[in-house]
Amino acid sequence: DNALPLDMTIFGGMGDLAMRKLLPALYMAYLHGNLPGSTRIISTGRQDYDRNAYLAHVEAHSRSFIAAENFNDKTWDGFLQLLEYVRLDVQQAPDFGALAAASREGAQRVFYLSTAPSLFTTICEKLASAGLVDKNARVVLEKPLGTDLASAIEINEAVGKHFEESQIYRIDHYLGKETVQNLMVLRFGNSILEPLWRAPNISSVQITVAEEVGVGSRAGFYDGAGAMRDMVQNHLLQLLCIVAMEPPTSLNADAVRDEKLKVLRSLRRFGLADIARDTVRGQYSHGVSGNQEVPGYHEEKNVPPDSKTETFVALRTFIDTWRWSKVPFYLRTGKRMQRRSSKIVIEFTNPPFPLFPDAPGGVANRLVIELQPEEAIKLQLMAKEPGSGMHMQQVALNLDLQSAFQQRRAEAYERLLIDVVRGRLTHFMRRDELEAAWEWADPIIEGWSTLGEKPHAYAAGSWGPAESFALLARDGYHWVE
Ligand code: BG6
Repeated sequence: DNALPLDMTIFGGMGDLAMRKLLPALYMAYLHGNLPGSTRIISTGRQDYDRNAYLAHVEAHSRSFIAAENFNDKTWDGFLQLLEYVRLDVQQAPDFGALAAASREGAQRVFYLSTAPSLFTTICEKLASAGLVDKNARVVLEKPLGTDLASAIEINEAVGKHFEESQIYRIDHYLGKETVQNLMVLRFGNSILEPLWRAPNISSVQITVAEEVGVGSRAGFYDGAGAMRDMVQNHLLQLLCIVAMEPPTSLNADAVRDEKLKVLRSLRRFGLADIARDTVRGQYSHGVSGNQEVPGYHEEKNVPPDSKTETFVALRTFIDTWRWSKVPFYLRTGKRMQRRSSKIVIEFTNPPFPLFPDAPGGVANRLVIELQPEEAIKLQLMAKEPGSGMHMQQVALNLDLQSAFQQRRAEAYERLLIDVVRGRLTHFMRRDELEAAWEWADPIIEGWSTLGEKPHAYAAGSWGPAESFALLARDGYHWVE
């Protein structure tokens, strides 16, 4: 249906995400000819703006998020021609009449819900009542998709009343990242890794998503969420799924999502004792980040002084399947870490017999997949140190993906928005996946509140609390930085 004219409506169209990510991504898609010829982008918001005032807002708040090398005035002007503004209060049914009036009969309608999830129900209901939901319509749901299993089910039920599952695009922008998609190719486009990709050949897996930034201006949302809901339940679990899934039978959306779902359902559940032993919560305190003194979480704007919200999580989990039996998966994410760094580390079992004297110890072979900011795949091997003895040292085969492929990398949102327009669901979460992820996360979050412990403090600019290192040290491992 690429031939259909596209009407993309953004709810929360004046918001931060629309300005920082969505409009710049749509601009890039337009620049590269990836939007249908007849596209309109309709932003909605409560402000009483006319189109010119809205365009001025976009100039002021969105344009600077387009990289200079991609910006040109002519394309920008052409892009602005696509934009419309509809003043709309999502609680007011008559306002949806104005939206219907702006929307073209027979167009491919995409509704991007970038509002608080508590508004999703009313938006979907009113869209349907206004006659805007036809069989071509698609709805994009921005995270957070609920705060627990019950609220996720509620959202899914409400949206599902008006949209078929095949019309619903649940965004996890990590799935739109080039390097994350490349993980699938690494695993399933090569045959040399697959025979090794299991217990007991793999002894442990680490997944780290470290951020240098703090909570910034988002405390209003973040303090009620914490790192578990904000990052682990979605982004880290999705990464874990791609690392751990069985080969799908095709790239068809359901074939891929079926396999990911199996992983989520096989994640071992945490009881209170497991939570106390295998999870670490942290909260950053005042420190130095990027050569600057930065405040602790408690000193950030809109954070209650007694907040127990975690800005860091490390945990050990297991996937109870034949392939992954007894292999610990260590997950870690945090804000205000020493630097931005996301990577997956696969550690292989050491040789069963120590043939060489003076072996340096530790893990002989690792596959390190760096997702951001570097894009690289490194295979660490033991090699002989030149000289008369048989001394070994660890060296790495290093594939720098940035220099292997010089092409432009599309931002995650650009790629995912194009997928929505083209009707490709593979890189979006299915309802059952989302719910399975909450089913696993809920008891951990509840357990933390039952145990009532405060998160461990860690200095901003560090790699997190000492307890996180102890979690791995106990099993004879350490985080690979
Ligand atoms: C978002 C979280 O989903 O992901 C943010 O809400 C986080 O808290 C962001 O900063 C990280 O995304 P990226 O693409 O910068 O790694």
